Amino acid sequence: MKLKMMYSFLNSDINIIEKALEETIETESLLLRQASMHTLKAGGKRIRPVFVLLAGKFGHYDINVMKDVAVALELIHMGSLVHDDVIDDADLRRGEPTVKAKWDSQTAMYTGDFVFALALKLMANIEKPAAHKILANTMVEVTVGEIQQIKDKYRFNQNFRDYLRRIKRKTALLIAASCQLGAIAAGVEEAVHKKLYFFGYFVGMSFQITDDILDFTATEKELGKPAGSDLLQGNITAPVLFAMENEEIRKEIEKVHEHMAPLEISNIITLIKQSGAIEKSVALSDQYLDKALAILEEIPANKAKKALRDIARFIGRRKF
Ligand code: IPE
Ligand code: IPE
Ligand code: MG
Ligand code: MG
Ligand code: MG
Repeated sequence: MKLKMMYSFLNSDINIIEKALEETIETESLLLRQASMHTLKAGGKRIRPVFVLLAGKFGHYDINVMKDVAVALELIHMGSLVHDDVIDDADLRRGEPTVKAKWDSQTAMYTGDFVFALALKLMANIEKPAAHKILANTMVEVTVGEIQQIKDKYRFNQNFRDYLRRIKRKTALLIAASCQLGAIAAGVEEAVHKKLYFFGYFVGMSFQITDDILDFTATEKELGKPAGSDLLQGNITAPVLFAMENEEIRKEIEKVHEHMAPLEISNIITLIKQSGAIEKSVALSDQYLDKALAILEEIPANKAKKALRDIARFIGRRKF
């Protein structure tokens, strides 16, 4: 089943979100408008707004309220991608040149800041202090996660705890916040919005582990973003950590540096792929997915719950 089919009952609301995203980034500044519109129009799965809307279905769902939260969460995601592509020196995103590549890093910096600020403006319509605390805290954590990743580059003595803490911050918490804030905006009781938060957290962990696997197994064409560059850039992800459990492979991996010759790095990538590390990473991603699905069992059954289950399963098997 295609991702979009899993929540087809939300189609008209998703269209409203898409229009609101475009309207939100209208501004007097031609450059900021062009750079954000470029990233928006390049595509993307929009899973964070979808989680916001689905979580809202457990409470008093009013699209006029949900809209602001859904757009805000997609904008925060988008801003973090625009910044991430500067950090990762990436030239391709969603099948199009990144802001950093099409314009420059300065433009990317301010485009990211600009869409963050727009997100906060929309959130101001939600008169619930708890929602603002959660969002602000999430943005702090995402930033800490991204900077930690820079500090951890080529640090081969790191362990799974370091990795898991980093991906929790840089990815899982924003997905958790999407679920929780969607629920809070719809007035869902605390016992349920906390469960939706943990659902999003576990899904988000699985999502980033899968992203890290795809960096080894997929192509640039399939992903619409660069593949195979995490290791060369010193980003130690789940497949690398599993492969390093083998002493001989570990010695090879420890030789990796920024200017390594393409043939040499591709030999090491082959070693990692043949070591069983990909299968182990898939199993790790599945463990998080199982936890996400188990939590869903504890919340009331409705259409949205089924969609959340289908999307969680999709995320575990996604190819892009
Ligand atoms: C990419 O997120 C960044 C990660 C957290 C892995 P998505 O895979 O959701 O990106 P888009 O929005 O679909 O492009
Ligand atoms: C996720 O990390 C990015 C953010 C959470 C901002 P990646 O660097 O792996 O994301 P991609 O692969 O570029 O989408
Ligand atoms: Mg990155
Ligand atoms: Mg990146
Ligand atoms: Mg990645």
